[in-house]
Amino acid sequence: MCGIIGYVGGKPAVPFLLEGLRRMEYRGYDSAGVAVLHDGALGDCRAAGKIARLEAALNTTPVTGSCGIGHTRWATHGPPVERNAHPHRSQDGTVAVVHNGIIENANALRVLLQGKGYQFRSDTDTEVVAHLVQELMNGSLEEAVLAALREVEGTYGLAIVSSRDPGKIVAARKGSPLLVGIGDGEHFLASDASAILAHTRQVVYLHDGDVAVIEAGGYRVLDASAAPRTPKVDRIEWDQAAIERGGYPHFMLKEIFEQPQTVENTMRGRLIVEDGTSKLGGLNLSHEQLMAIDNVIITACGTSWHSALIGEMMIEEWCRLPVEVEYASEFRYKNPIVGPNTLCIVISQSGETADTLAAMREAKRRGARTLGLVNVVGSTIAREDDGGVYLHAGPEIGVASTKAFTSQVVALALFALKLARKRGMSVTRGMEIARALHALPAQIQDVLDRSEQVEHIAEEFKRAPNFLYLGRGANFPVALEGALKLKEISYIHAEGYPAAEMKHGPIALIDEMMPVVFVAPHDAVFDKVVSNIQEVKARKGTVIAITSRGEPALDGLVDYEFRIPETVDLLMPVLASVPLQLLAYYIAVKRGSNVDQPRNLAKSVTVE
Ligand code: AGP
Repeated sequence: MCGIIGYVGGKPAVPFLLEGLRRMEYRGYDSAGVAVLHDGALGDCRAAGKIARLEAALNTTPVTGSCGIGHTRWATHGPPVERNAHPHRSQDGTVAVVHNGIIENANALRVLLQGKGYQFRSDTDTEVVAHLVQELMNGSLEEAVLAALREVEGTYGLAIVSSRDPGKIVAARKGSPLLVGIGDGEHFLASDASAILAHTRQVVYLHDGDVAVIEAGGYRVLDASAAPRTPKVDRIEWDQAAIERGGYPHFMLKEIFEQPQTVENTMRGRLIVEDGTSKLGGLNLSHEQLMAIDNVIITACGTSWHSALIGEMMIEEWCRLPVEVEYASEFRYKNPIVGPNTLCIVISQSGETADTLAAMREAKRRGARTLGLVNVVGSTIAREDDGGVYLHAGPEIGVASTKAFTSQVVALALFALKLARKRGMSVTRGMEIARALHALPAQIQDVLDRSEQVEHIAEEFKRAPNFLYLGRGANFPVALEGALKLKEISYIHAEGYPAAEMKHGPIALIDEMMPVVFVAPHDAVFDKVVSNIQEVKARKGTVIAITSRGEPALDGLVDYEFRIPETVDLLMPVLASVPLQLLAYYIAVKRGSNVDQPRNLAKSVTVE
């Protein structure tokens, strides 16, 4: 997804801008550019493709100056070619704009501006902002930006510079994250903290509606009505090393191998094994409010939606409360039934996914209480929810989500356990689940210690054009997640299905060429899954089984197997998903894919 960077101070801006853009590469992008002010003039450089191409273009036509903005673009309006790369310049060249988000009334504004003689050079929605600011520039840049924003509908993180008001960057936020970094005689702007962490840890997160004026000697934040706002300065505690690869060939592999620690971190200080419950400080729900919950809606996208399906089973099974799981993109446009005692759980690694954020706002608008399960501290969802449970999984850089998923499942288990114990679950049952949770980090380590077995299976199947993933109960979402991981990074077509549904259609696909991954640990539906495996074998399908230790029923029945330790049924997904993450990773590497930045994908989908 697009990234914004800005610098104003006493040093050359371009090296800083390039470094910041590189640190945001993990978000996914298809073109990049910079614009820098120098001696009252604006210079810029843009290139389609990777940042290395922008750097090469800058070597040929250097741009100098110590106040500039940069951008990595992930195409939404128009193809990823140079003319659509940001920054976009106004007609007279005095204004340069970089933008994340979507200007929804861009077509209407384009017609209006064309009527005034403006000519458009790109297919983007962003270009209207550059022309509009030029049109309205009658004093300071911030006044022109505020006036332009009154005309604009949609979402944006914007950074704007102008040669008619040099030495400053004006930034604006509505629906797309931006933060100001505070330095000594220099200030920074970024859409992602990782871009500026090497230079400062003091940041101001902009709120929706804010406009910031950033200069070498200071910064000001104005609210939507142009009144100055005294912003809160936050300190970023993340370690820079934590967002680097730490010796692994890819972030994704590093993040898979971090899971014993990240799952431990999700539970640290929260799990109370001896009482069979958990303590969650940020819920902001009183005992009475927890007892009054009538129903739960869980909303999310992608991998987070898969963890929601597991959370649904935990809350229904342990708390005996009705739960609905909704794709956030669908929920936001439905007419959902939400009552005053509805709890809406919102799950997001990034805390910035546009559909999930909109779904949360919709649930709030309809009167539900919202609870965010979010990884990125200070993200928009985390700031706007009524209560929250941070995942504490640390920065997830690989586009394919891995450690966030296992932490989401564990965070859901902690919440469901707390709620269940309040609503009648016995202490004995609570302790059984708590003990199982406590054992998970060591059990994940046991799985990881045998990763070469999965690599061997990957070698056998690296050329397969299709995969089917099957599971039942809590392992059906694991099948969905396994299939999603494989298709995201290896580009192999893969489908996840409830194992018994196979005979209602997908069974037609099965022959000796079709690898079928069964997620079949020993749980309440294990015998049923064994029957489903027999159905596949009868049609000459090749079976790869993720099953439990010491389970003889599959001996001789499956072609390849990987055994995971046993745990309580609803926690099996935490262990079963790890070999599937590894399988997708090794197959993708063997096929030569760009594992951390797969094609067409963005880490954080901040557009609708
Ligand atoms: C997962 O591997 C994906 N890249 C994607 O499905 C992701 O889970 C989804 O976009 C939601 O992101 P979020 O958790 O940051 O909201």
